[in-house]
Amino acid sequence: MESIVHKKIVREYYSERARDYDWQKVRTWKSKQGFGVEVLNEVIGALAGLECKPVLEVGVGSGRIGFPLLDKVKPWFVGLDLSREMLELARARMSLYKQKFDLIVGDAEHLPFSSKVFNAIICISTMHYLAYPERSLTEFSQTLKEKGILVYGDVTMHELDNRGFLDALERTLSQAHAKYHKPSEMKKLLENHRFRVSKMKVIPYRKSYFSLMEDKGKYFNVKPEALHKCIQGTTIDERKLYAINSNGLTLFYTLIMALKQNKSK
Ligand SMILES: C[S@@+](CC[C@H](N)C(=O)[O-])C[C@H]1O[C@@H](n2cnc3c(N)ncnc32)[C@H](O)[C@@H]1O
Repeated sequence: MESIVHKKIVREYYSERARDYDWQKVRTWKSKQGFGVEVLNEVIGALAGLECKPVLEVGVGSGRIGFPLLDKVKPWFVGLDLSREMLELARARMSLYKQKFDLIVGDAEHLPFSSKVFNAIICISTMHYLAYPERSLTEFSQTLKEKGILVYGDVTMHELDNRGFLDALERTLSQAHAKYHKPSEMKKLLENHRFRVSKMKVIPYRKSYFSLMEDKGKYFNVKPEALHKCIQGTTIDERKLYAINSNGLTLFYTLIMALKQNKSK
């Protein structure tokens, strides 16, 4: 699909989803089977010490990560997103800190900043929307200062998912998605873009079919039968890898902390 057409679909999806986004995320991130606190603590820990330093979040969304960062780390925070509606949520949420942040409509593949500006870039739950993650990583690397920190977090495939079940599932539910990566693929991509990985962890969590339909399928008029058919078509191995049962499946959230390396290394 043409990149510009795809981005329009992503933007429209988020503009519509904005009104539901925060309660949907509470369900996945803050539920007993969720992983939000762990991810947030890792991000805050990785950026500790960057008080008043410029930090960019690419795909800032509604400011779910930006707000606690402003509260705990107190950086000078810049949030960039394709969707105006999501940025409006972030603006409202972070308004308490209005001297300390900027929010910008923009595209992860064409960052509107000069080189070597930021001490850290975070990209949380956004990379799988990017059809050309290499372009974004090149931009991230250029925009970061030397030894700048990159924090990546996203849903990833199971390391042994060789048929691409997770991509097939997502394509059944949404036209916004571009590609999921395996944790090892993502690590390699970062290393190919001048990043040295300092920490990596994969966090499993449960997701119900009901919330997959609510978070994604309903915005694309997907019928429950289509999801059912996709699940029915899984192999025995895929059912094991993703612990698929009649209510839902286990997904994997990968967090990677990396440092921009000097050119010579
Ligand atoms: C799942 S949300 C994550 C938001 C936030 N990081 C969080 O964790 O709540 C993904 C966000 O990425 C944004 N996005 C998707 N593609 C983008 C692109 N090419 N450039 C900038 N933002 C993009 C979407 O508009 C959406 O707000």
